[in-house]
Amino acid sequence: MTNALIISSGKGGTGKTTTAVNLGVSMAQMGIETLLVDAALPTPDVGLHLGLPFKLRTLNHVLSGESDVTEAIFIHESGLEVLPASIHIGTFTEFDPSDLAEVIDEVKDSYDWVLIDCAAGLGNEVVKSIEVADKMLVVTNPELPSVANSFKAIQLAEESNTEPIGIVVNRTGRFGEELSNDEIMAVVGKTPGVLTRIPEDRNVPRAIASSEPVVMKYPYTPASIGYKALASKITGRRFIDDRTLWDRLKCAIRGY
Ligand SMILES: Nc1ncnc2c1ncn2[C@@H]1O[C@H](COP(=O)(O)OP(=O)(O)OP(=O)(O)O)[C@@H](O)[C@H]1O
Ligand SMILES: [Mg+2]
Repeated sequence: MTNALIISSGKGGTGKTTTAVNLGVSMAQMGIETLLVDAALPTPDVGLHLGLPFKLRTLNHVLSGESDVTEAIFIHESGLEVLPASIHIGTFTEFDPSDLAEVIDEVKDSYDWVLIDCAAGLGNEVVKSIEVADKMLVVTNPELPSVANSFKAIQLAEESNTEPIGIVVNRTGRFGEELSNDEIMAVVGKTPGVLTRIPEDRNVPRAIASSEPVVMKYPYTPASIGYKALASKITGRRFIDDRTLWDRLKCAIRGY
C-alpha cells in the first residue's frame, strides 16, 4: 500500500524541502519506489534543490488541465521520481484539495511512498495539502516559536485524519540554548515522538548551491547520515554503510 507523507512545519524555513528532497533521494537509493510532489506552489524549491531543468511540464500544468500527470513526472538520476511545481510567476497556483488528491490518486499505486513538500505557514493551501496525505512528518528547529507552530501543524493533521508519524529536529547544535527532545515533547505532547535530530551542517547549503542533494554530493557528512537514518527509520529498510576502512578514514579527515 502506498503511503502519502506530507512534510510540514508550521513555521517557514525549518528545512522541509531539504528534508523532503534528501529523504526522497535516500529512499530511492534504497530501491524504494518514491515520488516527491512539490505542493509548495507559491514558493516551489524542489526543482532548485535537485537541479531539474526549468522548461518542464509541472504540477501547475496538471492542476490547470494543460498536462497529464505522467508527462509532468521527472526521473532524477538517483531514481527519485519528481512532480515539480513551476517557478514562473503568473502560473496557476490556486488549487482545490480534491484536484491534488485526484492527481496523487492517479499515480500513487505505482509507488511505495509519495512524499509531499508543502509551503510555509498553515494557510489554506497547506491545510488542503494536509488533507490529501495519510501521514505527516513535522520538521522543526530546536527553538520555541518553531516548536509551537509545529504543534499547530500536528493539531491540523489530527483534525484532517492525517497521522503525525514523528518530528525531525533540524539544524541542531547552532547555539547552546536549544530545546532538548524532552522539552519539545513537553510542548507538543507525547505523540508523535522525535524521530531524529539533524545537525547544522555547512555542507547542506553548499550542496543546495550546486543544486545537488547533500546525500549525493556529501554522502557521509553528518546531515546526510541523519537523512539516510531517517529514511531507514520511516521505511524499516536497513541503511547499510558500505564504506571501506580507507573511505571512513578519508571521510573523518575531510569531514564528509
Ligand atoms: N541541517 C542543515 N544544516 C544547515 N543548513 C540547513 C540545514 N537544513 C536546512 N538548512 C538551510 O536552511 C535553509 C532553509 O531550508 P529549506 O528551504 O529546506 O526550508 P523550508 O522549510 O523548505 O523553507 P520554506 O518554508 O521557505 O519552504 C536552506 O537555505 C538550507 O541551506
Ligand atoms: Mg520549502
